[in-house]
Amino acid sequence: MTQDELKQAVAEAALDYIRPHLEGDTVLGIGTGSTANMFIDCLAAVKGLIGATVASSEASAERLRSHGIPVYDLNAVDNVAFYIDGADESNRALHLIKGGGAALTREKIVAAVAEKFICIADESKLVPTLGAFPLPVEVIPMARSHVARELVKLGGDPVYREGVVTDNGNVILDVFNFPIPQPLATEEKINNITGVVTNGLFALRPADVLLLGTSGGVQTLYP
Ligand code: A5P
Repeated sequence: MTQDELKQAVAEAALDYIRPHLEGDTVLGIGTGSTANMFIDCLAAVKGLIGATVASSEASAERLRSHGIPVYDLNAVDNVAFYIDGADESNRALHLIKGGGAALTREKIVAAVAEKFICIADESKLVPTLGAFPLPVEVIPMARSHVARELVKLGGDPVYREGVVTDNGNVILDVFNFPIPQPLATEEKINNITGVVTNGLFALRPADVLLLGTSGGVQTLYP
C-alpha cells in the first residue's frame, strides 16, 4: 500500500471510531495536515451527525467550510469530545512530535481541551525514540536569535523555517540532530525558554489512541 492509502485507511478508521459516539450536538476538534485533510473529507459524509467543529488551522477551517461543515471559535464551545489529528512522529507511549505544518500551537490548544485525542498516522511515523524528525518550536519573532542560542545550549541545531509565518503571526525554528529520550522533561524545558510560544512535543498531553496504518491493516495502539 502507498503512504496515501495508509493515511486514507486511518482517516476512515477514525470515523468508524467516533461514529457510535456522535449525538447530533457533538463538537469535534480537527487537526492539520494531509492525514487530517483525508479525515475532513470522510467527515463530510456524516456532517448531519455532528454539532460543529473547531479547527487547529485556518487551512483546515477552510476545508471544513468547503464541505458545509460548521466551524466554531474554540471560545464559543464548552466541550470538545474528540480531537483527530496526524503526527510527524509517535513513540510507544503516544508522545508525539507535531508541527511539520506549522500549526503546533493551535493543535496543542485544541488537544488540551479535547476529552480524547485520536492520532491518525501511517506506520512510518512510529519510532522507538522521538527526534529523527526535527522538532518545531514556535517563537515570537523578536526572540528568534535568543531562543536559537538557548536551543543550541540544549544540544540541538535550530534552523529558521524561512518564509513561514504561523496563523498566530510567529516564526518556527526546527531543531535538528536532537534525539529526545525524555519527552516530558524536554517539552517543559523548551517551553520555559523566554520567547517560546510552544514546542511540537505532545508529551504532557499525549494522544489517547493511535490509529496506525500498516500494510497488514489499521492497528489501534494505547499508551
Ligand atoms: C501540522 O502542524 C502537523 O502537526 C501535522 O499534524 C503533521 O505534520 C502530520 O502531517 P501529515 O498528516 O501531512 O503527515
